[in-house]
Parts: sequence; C-alpha cells; structure tokens
Amino acid sequence: MNTLQENIHGQLLNYLDPVVKEVLQVGKYILSSSGKYVRPSLLIYTANMFDVDIEKVVPLAVGLEYIHVASLLHDDVVDNAQMRRGKPSAHTIFGNQVCILTGDYMYAKALNLYSTYGNMESINVLSQAVMQMSQAQVLELKSLGDILPEETYYQIIDGKTGALIGAAMAIGAILGGRKDYMDFYKIGILAGRAFQMVDDALDYVGNEEKLGKPVGNDIKEGKCTYPLISVIDKLDKEMVKKSLLTGDVGDLIQTVINLGGVSNTFSKAKGYIEEVKSFLKEFKNSEDVVSLIELFINRDK
Ligand code: FPP
Ligand code: MG
Repeated sequence: MNTLQENIHGQLLNYLDPVVKEVLQVGKYILSSSGKYVRPSLLIYTANMFDVDIEKVVPLAVGLEYIHVASLLHDDVVDNAQMRRGKPSAHTIFGNQVCILTGDYMYAKALNLYSTYGNMESINVLSQAVMQMSQAQVLELKSLGDILPEETYYQIIDGKTGALIGAAMAIGAILGGRKDYMDFYKIGILAGRAFQMVDDALDYVGNEEKLGKPVGNDIKEGKCTYPLISVIDKLDKEMVKKSLLTGDVGDLIQTVINLGGVSNTFSKAKGYIEEVKSFLKEFKNSEDVVSLIELFINRDK
C-alpha cells in the first residue's frame, strides 16, 4: 500500500462508527481485506488537479468506498459468490441477512458523510451513480444465459462499474469548483468501462490466487462478456447459448482465448483509456490520475 492508500484504509474504520456489534464485525471483516481503493484514490487525485484542501476530500473519498463495499456485500449475496479478496465472502460467514443490512448501513453512512461534508451536487452525482448501478445489476441478472449485443454489454458495465468511477471523477471536479463536472462523470464512465473490460478479460486468463476469486466463472454463471462477444460470429451460437444456460463450458473458454477474444478486450480497453488521457491533457497536475487509470489496464488483479 502507498501512503494515500494507508490513509484511506485507516479512515474507513474510523468513520464507520456503528453501535450494533454485528455491523461492526461485518464492516471490519470486509474492510480488513484491503481492496485497491481505486475509487477514493481517483476522487482524491481528481480533486488534487484543482488544488482542493485534502481535509475536505477524505470523508467524501471514504463515503465513496463505503458505497463500493456495500455494493460488493450485496453483489456476493446476489451472485452467491464464495470468495472475495482472497477470503470467504462475508455472507458465507455472517449470513445473507446481516450482510445485506450492513450494506444498507454503509450506504446510508456514505450519504450521511456527503450531507455533512459535501454539497447538493455531490449528493446528486452519488445517488445517480447508485441508481445506475442497481439498475445495471438488474439488467445483468435478467440477461444471464443470453448472448448479448455489444450495446447491452456496455449498458451493463457502464452502470455496474463505470458509474461509481464516473462519480469519483465528478465529485473531485465538484470539490474543485468545476461547473463542467458532468463531463468528468462521462469520462470516468469510459475509464470504468475499460476497468470492467479488463476484469472480464482476467476472468478468462487471470490467476486465481492474485485475483482472490475463482476464474472462468463468468460463462459458468451465464455471463456473456466482451471476450466472448468479440468472437461470437466465429462460434456456433447454439453451442454457446447452451454453455451459458447450463454452465457446462467444455473448451469454450480456451476457444475464446484462441480466437483472440481476450486480446480484443485488452485493446478495446486500451482505446478507452487513451480517450480519457486525451481529455485529461488540458489539465495541469493530472499525472496521478493518468498513472492510476493506466493501472486499470495494466494489472493482474
Ligand atoms: C461486481 O460485479 C458488482 C458491482 C461492481 C456492482 C454491484 C452493485 C449493486 C449490488 C447495486 C448497488 C448497491 C448498493 C448498496 C450501493 P461482478 O459480479 O461482475 O464482479 P465480481 O466478480 O467482483 O463479483
Ligand atoms: Mg459478483
């Protein structure tokens, strides 16, 4: 962890502050396995581009991470996922009900921090992001087992991942007094799109130990992501459909890799990151944001 990440890590437990011990237990459990802190770091680096006082930024960065963590608690229940960040996922230990409700607590705590330290614009952006996230999750759920058109795939990933990354940049810009903060939201969504595409590529070729969760899960769960979409015309659609519906993947994963599905995904993601970098060119002090978003595509976990 770098100094910024250590600072965020320390503040996350500090602000959580529940009175019920089970909420604290789940909070501690999920927060102790340190994530990458992509969203709070991006918020802080974006605000730094406009010389915002760090004291003002930290509680909002913490709130943003709470939303992310709440969404993971809920997502692991929805997906019935067994592993998260290299450990058994929280619901396998504390049960679905306590995890859903702790997620609700963290979500409300985030809004509470925003109403104390933020302003109306930042609350507006944050709530819009969560509206997009939850709808995208429903869309993804309802699309399980289907071969998806590229547009539907983007609608899903822009919502489930892009929106919160867009919010990170927009809130940094709001703190910096930028009236054009929605441009930052839109460009952040593209960065988030690239981030999720790399996640989807790593589901094909990543290392389970590094990722802290099993690979090859997407097709088994019926999720049709970009590696598959990009080579779908070279495949027997009936066979693919059957794999998505039954979870019986056979050699489909290897076939998608051999046809170039994973490298197509990385190059598409790289293109989006280039777009984001060219947006950032006109701003001074954007080096930290640029290095962070470059990591979105140059990572193995
Ligand atoms: C992980 O996707 C899930 C998300 C990035 C978003 C989840 C969003 C919600 C549950 C709705 C918002 C809810 C709240 C409380 C703010 P994935 O399943 O593809 O990735 P994974 O492999 O890491 O689980
Ligand atoms: Mg999941």
